[in-house]
Amino acid sequence: MTLLRVLLRYSRRYWAWIVAVFALQLISTMAALYLPSLNAEIIDDGVSTGDTALIWGLGGRMLLVCLVQVVTAVAAIWFGARTAMAIGRDLRRDLFDTVTAMSEQQVRLFGSPTLITRGTNDIQQVQMLALMTLNFMVSTPIMCIGGIVMALREDVGLSWLVWTSVPLLLVIVGFLVARLMPLFRTVQERIDGINGVLREQIIGIRVVRAFVREPHETRRFAEANRRLTDVSIRVGQLFVLMFPVIGMVLHLATAAVLWFGGQRVDAGVMQVGSLTAFLQYLLQILMAVMMGTFMAMMVPRAIVCAERVDEVLRVDPEQAEPETVREVPRTGVVEFRDVEFRYPGAERPVLSGISFRAVPGQTTAIVGSTGSGKTTLLGLIPRLMQASGGEVLVDGVPVADLARAQLAERVSLVTQRPYLFSGTIASNLRFGREDATDDELWHALTVAQAADFVREQPEGLERRVSQGGTNVSGGQRQRLCIARTLVARPDIYLFDDSFSALDVATDARLRKALAPELADATAIIVAQRISTVMGADQIIVLDDGHIVGQGTHDELLAANETYQQIVASQISAQEEA
Ligand SMILES: Nc1ncnc2c1ncn2[C@@H]1O[C@H](COP(=O)(O)OP(=O)(O)OP(=O)(O)O)[C@@H](O)[C@H]1O
Ligand SMILES: [Mg+2]
Repeated sequence: MTLLRVLLRYSRRYWAWIVAVFALQLISTMAALYLPSLNAEIIDDGVSTGDTALIWGLGGRMLLVCLVQVVTAVAAIWFGARTAMAIGRDLRRDLFDTVTAMSEQQVRLFGSPTLITRGTNDIQQVQMLALMTLNFMVSTPIMCIGGIVMALREDVGLSWLVWTSVPLLLVIVGFLVARLMPLFRTVQERIDGINGVLREQIIGIRVVRAFVREPHETRRFAEANRRLTDVSIRVGQLFVLMFPVIGMVLHLATAAVLWFGGQRVDAGVMQVGSLTAFLQYLLQILMAVMMGTFMAMMVPRAIVCAERVDEVLRVDPEQAEPETVREVPRTGVVEFRDVEFRYPGAERPVLSGISFRAVPGQTTAIVGSTGSGKTTLLGLIPRLMQASGGEVLVDGVPVADLARAQLAERVSLVTQRPYLFSGTIASNLRFGREDATDDELWHALTVAQAADFVREQPEGLERRVSQGGTNVSGGQRQRLCIARTLVARPDIYLFDDSFSALDVATDARLRKALAPELADATAIIVAQRISTVMGADQIIVLDDGHIVGQGTHDELLAANETYQQIVASQISAQEEA
């Protein structure tokens, strides 16, 4: 069972605390069980005979036992809570680590909404169950069995009340739990649903507004919301039944004990003290059964949640570190050997037969129509995805054999869709190298043509950046991302269409400033404009995932049909403009 496996695996580290919980609970439960019989003794031997000294003595002992019970119970809960929270924390950490080590496709296979629910809500459920288990696992059975034993010691004649009320309670609660179980899976799935709709709408809010799709989106959310509400109401209805039914059984049992016990006291076969003790024991037993069933009620939901969490933890992340990490000299050479890449489930490969070499001090440009596979090709170098065929080598080593940290210091990618993190401009720029000085940041900003923009901000480098970088313009974001890469100072720079949001003049200035920075580095540039790639040492022409041309601008212009077409289309577009 997944839940058990997960709980066992994660509680192993805290065995000392768990032992403490067990021991403390044992003491506390014993004390609780001892109290009613002491009470009975006071009534039968002290009150009925008027022995005040005995009453004082036994009363004092009761107080002491009570004290022990309270202290141990509190301590047990303290340790239990600590352990459960620690298990939750570890689960969350491992889930986070797994998700961050997943490749893009693996994340897409799950989808972000469900990964978020699993990392928060589902783990919360498992953690709650761990807490309940630790709080009641020991006390409930002991209370149950001990209570029965003690009750029988007080009076065997009334024992049939135990044998009837406990199964009655079990049957009723068991029936309700069995009906709840399937509903819980639906609840979790519908929480995913709400998360998904909400996330998409928040991220796509501008598009929604631009196309005046609010009514449609509102309906979509309302539908997801209604679906969650429906199933939650069904869960609630069953829960509502639970409490009155349990209450009824408890009260019926009390009445029955008093009724039948009273007759036995009348007949002189039972003492009053025993009757009160019996009643207390029966209530303790029923309470324990109730607690047990509450736990049983959480179990179905926790099972579902544990399975969902485990599903993520079991993924073998494609971004995982190689088994052995070795020192690799940094040469800055990138090589593709007959590389093929296929998105999972896709019929055709997006890239095939890709072979080329990019060396330090040179700029390699990649051109091709949209959808020809340029972004995919760049993504293979920092191992965002893994090639499905052939080999991608950095510094003469397959990228899969390099540790992520090794790759990160060698390769830096400016993505096509620039992304900044919430924080400040400075914190974003230091993303690739935390110890960069302010001077280095300003230098990178100057090269990236972003210094003026930052200087205009009253807070300068400390200007706040919101999640995703949505509070700066697209072009500013792109230039900040270029600056971030420059601060990191990798051996290999990858620019994915990074100059497209810039006007022609800024583009030219940026490339001029960039040239000395990249003099010793390997640069691979994806670009749309021929003017951007003209000066490159080699140009790779990509068409539908294949390399259809390779050479300098002049060579390609002379002999390559696809390249000639691209050039022609841009010249004619310019003339029209
Ligand atoms: N996650 C994905 N799953 C399946 N197919 C994808 C995925 N991402 C991209 N593709 C497909 O792979 C092909 C290449 O995409 P890619 O993003 O590499 O093109 P590109 O050359 O960068 O285009 P552009 O110039 O528009 O940026 C396209 O046909 C695209 O539909
Ligand atoms: Mg692209």
